[in-house]
Amino acid sequence: MHAAPQQLISSRCGALAGDITPPGDKSISHRSIMFGGIAEGTTTVRGLLEGEDVLATVAALRAMGADIRKDENKIWYVTGVGDRGLHPPATTLDMGNSGTSARLLIGLVTGNAFTARFSGDASLCKRPMGRVIDPLSLMGATFESSGGKLPLTVTGSPHPKAITYELPVVSAQVKSAILLAGLGVEGTTTVIEQTPTRDHSENMLRGFGAQVTITKRADGADIISITGKPRLMAQNITVPADPSSAAFPLVAALLNPGSHVILRNVGLNPRRAGLIETLVEMGADILFENRRSEGGEPVADLIVTGSELTGIDVPPERAPSMIDEYPILAVAASCARGTMRMRGLGELRVKESDRLALMAQGLTQCGVKLEVEGDDLIIHGTGTPPQGGAAIATAMDHRIAMSFLVLGTRTAQPIRIDDGAFIATSFPGFVAMMNNLGAKIA
Ligand code: S3P
Repeated sequence: MHAAPQQLISSRCGALAGDITPPGDKSISHRSIMFGGIAEGTTTVRGLLEGEDVLATVAALRAMGADIRKDENKIWYVTGVGDRGLHPPATTLDMGNSGTSARLLIGLVTGNAFTARFSGDASLCKRPMGRVIDPLSLMGATFESSGGKLPLTVTGSPHPKAITYELPVVSAQVKSAILLAGLGVEGTTTVIEQTPTRDHSENMLRGFGAQVTITKRADGADIISITGKPRLMAQNITVPADPSSAAFPLVAALLNPGSHVILRNVGLNPRRAGLIETLVEMGADILFENRRSEGGEPVADLIVTGSELTGIDVPPERAPSMIDEYPILAVAASCARGTMRMRGLGELRVKESDRLALMAQGLTQCGVKLEVEGDDLIIHGTGTPPQGGAAIATAMDHRIAMSFLVLGTRTAQPIRIDDGAFIATSFPGFVAMMNNLGAKIA
C-alpha cells in the first residue's frame, strides 16, 4: 500500500493557534461500515474517517457484497446485504495496517458458512490473532494460519455455537469479534469483561436493532450478551472526531507556551477519555464547551491553552480508556516536571509496533531519562523540554510517528522520523493540520 518511506522533520515552532476539527473516530467509522454493510437498507455516514484502515474495511465489505459509495459532500452510503447475506470474497481481504479490521471481520465471517482469507502489511502480520482464533474456534470456525498470525484463512460455521467467554485479554477488538460472530448464532452469545473497554460495538449494534444486554456479575465484571439472528436496520450515523487523533494537536498545544487551540466535536465517551482525565490531573488547561450528544456519543469542543504539566502516577485500571494514547502521553510526560509513572502497559507491546520499547528507545535518544519496569513506563521530567536532535524509527506505526513529530515542536533540536506514510492509516492531513496551527513539519 505504501511506496517510498516518507521522512519528516519537526522543528521547534513556538505558540500554536487555530480552530480545527480532528478527523472522524476510527473505531466508530469501522463499525459504521461493518454494521451498515450487513443491515437492511442504506446507512448514511457523515464524518467517516477516510483513513487507510477504514478504507480496508470498506474494501472488505464491498468484496463480501455490500454496496458502498460516497457523494461529493463526503457523505457515505452503505447499502447492506441484509437478508441476502454476505457472500464469500473472491480474493484475499487485505487488511493493510488495521488490527481492528482484521479481528472484527474474522469474527463476522465466523457466523457465515464460507471461507475468507485475510492478509495485511508487515506490521499487522506480526500481531497476535490467537486471541480471536481461540474463542471463534469454540464457536465453530476453523482456521489455517502459521503461528496464529496473518495471513490466515477462516471458514465460518453453518451452525455457529453460542458460547460464554471470559476475556483473557483486555481488548475491545476481541470482545467485538465475538459479538459479531454471535450475530450468526441461533441463541445468545455472552462475553464477560472484567475490565471495561470501549463499548462502541455494543452501543451501535443496539442502535442497528440487535438485542444486547449488559448486566453485572457479583465481582463487578460486565456480562455482555447478544441475541443472534437479529434484524439489523440501516441507520443515519454522524461520527464524532476521534479523541485518539485529537490527542496529538491537543498535546502539541499544551506543550507550547502561549498556545490557544480549539478542537471541535471531540468524542468524550468515558471509555475513551482517559488521556484527557490524565492531562487535567497533570495541570492541563482544557475547557469543555458545547457539551452535547451526537449519534449517541458525548462530544464537546475543547479549548486548549499552553500549560505547565506535572508528572503523576497513572493507575493501570485507566489503561483501556487511553490505550492508544500512551505514546503521546509519554511525550507530554517528557516535557513535564517530575516523575510520571504509567502502569499496566503490557498491551502496548502488541499494537502496530511494540510501543513500549519504541517509545522508550526514541525518548532516550531525545535525551529523556526513563525506565521500563515490568509493564510500567517511568519518565523523569525536568520541566524543560528534552534536547531532541534524534532520528526515530517508527516501525510502520502511525502513533509513534505523530508522537515524535509533536515532541519535535518543542525540543531544542529538530526530530526526524524515518517514515510518516503510515500516519494516513488514521489521520490523513495530519501534517497540514499541524502546520496550519503553526507547527514546522517538513
Ligand atoms: C480498537 C480497540 C483497541 C485499540 C484500537 C481500536 C477498537 O485495540 O487499540 O486502536 O476499535 O476496538 P484492543 O482491543 O486490541 O485493545
